[in-house]
Amino acid sequence: MILVLLGPPGSGKGTQAKRLSALRGWPQLSTGDMLRTAIAAGSKLGLEAKSFMDQGNLVPDSVVVGLIAERSSQADCKNGFILDGFPRTIPQAQSLDQMLTAQSRRVDKVLLFQIENEELVKRLSGRRVCSNCGSMYHVEFSPPKASGVCDKCGSKALIQRDDDQAAVIEKRLKVYQEQTEPLVKYYTDAKKLKTLDATLQPEQVEENLLKMLS
Ligand code: AP5
Repeated sequence: MILVLLGPPGSGKGTQAKRLSALRGWPQLSTGDMLRTAIAAGSKLGLEAKSFMDQGNLVPDSVVVGLIAERSSQADCKNGFILDGFPRTIPQAQSLDQMLTAQSRRVDKVLLFQIENEELVKRLSGRRVCSNCGSMYHVEFSPPKASGVCDKCGSKALIQRDDDQAAVIEKRLKVYQEQTEPLVKYYTDAKKLKTLDATLQPEQVEENLLKMLS
């Protein structure tokens, strides 16, 4: 199964990709995570990406297409993978189709996470991420058991992402509307798109997502 999770920033793609990956064993391919790893490593690619990400803009298509081409060719992706945050533009979707066609594969399903902007701003501004193990929390909706301490690894480094500041959130939502929303038509025309109510509790979203895959 090659699955695309499509939706605005904060709609819960990463949360559901992690749950589904744990359940089904398909790796989560998150371009956002890959870029943040490159930034943390101080690589040339990371430095280039950071200037785009900090301003809420998209990183150039050629960069993210290259990341996905490399990662998806690894052995653990043989039985499928979950794309989280990719594709985000029509050229990225076209590159993905070309890449998969060359391997006699294709995107099987695209799930669109639907939710209002007001709720997205609440989710993004309250998000905290463990900088040690990557576990995700929300100060109101899913706080850690002990304030400021990661439930999974015990680290006290629960941080707010640089791009979860109010001004950057606003820009990311605008960029989504202008550059990523056209993918809804692209995948509707390809008869691959299904819509998911992303306003529900994570457990309920997961249950509905699993039904859509069966
Ligand atoms: P990326 O990391 O992909 O960010 P995003 O798409 O903006 O998505 P988010 O990670 O912000 O949100 P999400 O939908 O995964 O929600 P989450 O599960 O975390 O990209 C960052 C940047 O990298 C981009 O701006 C761009 O610059 C660059 N980039 C990445 N991919 C690119 C590409 N393909 N092309 C070009 N540039 C690219 O949940 C959010 C919060 O809500 C959490 O706190 C969570 O706990 C909470 N939550 C989740 N589900 C629920 C629920 N059901 N109810 C209540 N709370 C919930």
